[in-house]
Amino acid sequence: MSKKIADKVVLAYSGGLDTSVAVKWLLEHKCNEVVCVAIDLGQGQELEEIQAKALTIGASESRVIDAKQEFIEEFCFRALKANANYQENYPLATALARPLIAKILVDIAHEYKADAIAHGCTGKGNDQVRFDLSIMALDPNLKIIAPAREWGMTREESIEYADKHGIPVPTSKKSPYSIDLNLWGRSAECGILEDATVEPPEDVYGMTKSPESAPDKAEYVRISFEKGIPVAVNGKPYAPIELVEELNRIAGDNAIGRIDKIEDRVVGIKSREIYEAPAAVLLGKAHKELEYLVMTKNMKSFKNLLDEKYSEMIYQGFWFEPLRDCMDAFINQSQEHVTGEIELKLYKGSITVASRKSPFSLYDKGLATYDKGDMFNHQSAVGFIELFGMQMKTHAVVSKAEKLAVKK
Ligand code: ARG
Repeated sequence: MSKKIADKVVLAYSGGLDTSVAVKWLLEHKCNEVVCVAIDLGQGQELEEIQAKALTIGASESRVIDAKQEFIEEFCFRALKANANYQENYPLATALARPLIAKILVDIAHEYKADAIAHGCTGKGNDQVRFDLSIMALDPNLKIIAPAREWGMTREESIEYADKHGIPVPTSKKSPYSIDLNLWGRSAECGILEDATVEPPEDVYGMTKSPESAPDKAEYVRISFEKGIPVAVNGKPYAPIELVEELNRIAGDNAIGRIDKIEDRVVGIKSREIYEAPAAVLLGKAHKELEYLVMTKNMKSFKNLLDEKYSEMIYQGFWFEPLRDCMDAFINQSQEHVTGEIELKLYKGSITVASRKSPFSLYDKGLATYDKGDMFNHQSAVGFIELFGMQMKTHAVVSKAEKLAVKK
């Protein structure tokens, strides 16, 4: 068996089978002491129970950290300002949580003078990449241990190991899917979902109604932004966590935010994922609409490129890469005028924009109208088009002359 490589390990603990087995396995093979940390990102678990369970298995310390506010304000809302969506439509709920969890683990490792951090990821997914890269960036001296990447146990073998060591195995029937949940969204994979030809069964979903069971009447929702940050819903001010919870409810009720996706994992695998992100999808739609209202064309088209890069960096686990700070500087500056209100109409899974308003709107009805009150100078269009197409016109003249010369 491998010799112990650490004295004290901080373990990201979820209370599930794998990380419970990991506590014992780490003590057996890797270290002398395990500090468990369970982090609340709005996944709705009973974290006190989980905290106690870690101690019964053998952890020397067990901590619960409520990180919901930091998650929404410092991670999700930054992502929103960047219209972050991986490969067009995944709002990155799971990916955004990982650097924050890593940061908390590193802080706790310092507090307890631990020399290693452990997480429950396997060797096939993106999350191992995100944890390892984040820990590496925050403290390159910490060792990283991923028991499930090393031990090579099947689920049955893990259960056997748990029985042998008196680790309580969750008694509730295990979901056929692998679920990751937080305030920004829910990710599901495994089971029947691995067959990309099969429509996901209804029992995959946990945050949204189906379009069929959503209300037959459309619902309108008005979202107010200040400098790119959502601050009110239907005119009522909300704190960040409550705002996201309220929009998850409203959008989820109207079947908004279901995403069935084939995506490219960092490790090269194409995988099929079912996401739900009611609030994130709604906010994303409204935020983008507001940007189109207040930004110049140059600004918007440049920012679109940057947004895509930003999303990719989140997905790949490069949250703590120095480039992100530089991009944030640009993005924050770009949000100075992203203030206003967008009203959306929700109906059985569809979102349409009903109205937009901003003190910084660049939409000028006087310039746009085809009716009375037109302020646009039609004459200047003629000269503009002449110059705009000058080279193309010259090209046409030259090509025609060339064709005539060939015929002769
Ligand atoms: N593929 C997604 C991502 O990499 C979600 C992974 C979620 N994990 C899960 N156990 N369902 O961000």
